[in-house]
Amino acid sequence: MLDTLNQQPPDTLLALIKLFNADPSPDKIDLGVGVYRTADGATPVFAAIKAAERRLADTQPTKAYLGPEGDMGFVYALMPHIFGGDDPARGGLIDGMQTPGGTGAVRLAVALAKKAGATRVLMGTPSWPNHAQIMGDLSLEVLPFAHAAADGSADMATLRAALESAGAGDAVLLHGCCHNPTGIDYTPEQWDEIAALVKSSGVLPILDLAYQGLGLGMEDDAYGVRKVLATVPEALVAYSCDKNFGLYRDRVGALYAMGKDTDVTARIMSNGWALARANWSMPPDHGAAAVRLILDDEALTASWLEELDSMRARINQVREKLAASSNAGAVDLTPLGRQRGMFAMLPLDKDQILTLRNEHAIYMAGSGRINVACLTMGNIDKFVGALAAVSA
Ligand code: LMR
Repeated sequence: MLDTLNQQPPDTLLALIKLFNADPSPDKIDLGVGVYRTADGATPVFAAIKAAERRLADTQPTKAYLGPEGDMGFVYALMPHIFGGDDPARGGLIDGMQTPGGTGAVRLAVALAKKAGATRVLMGTPSWPNHAQIMGDLSLEVLPFAHAAADGSADMATLRAALESAGAGDAVLLHGCCHNPTGIDYTPEQWDEIAALVKSSGVLPILDLAYQGLGLGMEDDAYGVRKVLATVPEALVAYSCDKNFGLYRDRVGALYAMGKDTDVTARIMSNGWALARANWSMPPDHGAAAVRLILDDEALTASWLEELDSMRARINQVREKLAASSNAGAVDLTPLGRQRGMFAMLPLDKDQILTLRNEHAIYMAGSGRINVACLTMGNIDKFVGALAAVSA
């Protein structure tokens, strides 16, 4: 039976990690998968995580099972940072559960939407390729609309039209901040309009917040999520700690749900637990427990936020330097100064991307997405020069 399975291509983004590692070039540049790098090209463990892990090793009394909801101390400790206000749970309307990374949270959100009757999901494109893959795997139809307008801002006209043509029974996937792959975020005014449109259309919003703190800061990056949740009766929020706590391989995420009343919220969560049990039973504990220890400790929280601030500052410094380069051949880098987060899309074709890899040892996704966070003051000139060489 198993011999009937067709060969699947490897995930192109994850395959880049192996290609890059195998390249012996001393000045190779990895602009592929979304990990942060320091000015020295390292992806260190946050000092606050190291301290929390030490404390965990010394004090954790047991590793006995928790449950499909995971570490609820972690889930609740994150809520003030995501939802803000004096009552982040809005009197019990919002509740959550831990998931294996942001991917697990997106998977669960889409599966819940499907279980509740959705068959179609509106989604701005391009998007993170795994979004469409997850929806396809769950047999949901993706209704694509263009995310970016020709001037490099968010295309509100197509979003408006998409939401107006959809209705109750449909869902819409929105990136909370640091849009992956374009870096083109909605402004607060645009979020205000989106929240009203989502409400009037009756579609279920699924908000993917995977880069909080890496765009404008923890508070500003939550504007869209907070605005939508303050406006609509129900929503799902997929959250990732992989980037803002640097926990990538430890797979730390959470799914939050807001129902129209507390009974509905409780029912959504019970369905989330059942889906989790059938998929992964319960999420891995270690990373989430470390995050909980940080968020329950003022000094560790301050240390984490300080490190996150310095990551954001470095990303924005690289963006400014790229935007100011006028010598990248036919590639206009000025929009990168207006964009946010780790990613940007460059208008390069497949041949140019392969030439960058083969002749300049610069690795980027086949879509033209670059991870800005992997450029440094030491390698930007090489990168810009290579862009000029392939686009001249
Ligand atoms: C990315 O887009 O590079 C990250 O979200 C990592 C991943 O899982 O694809």
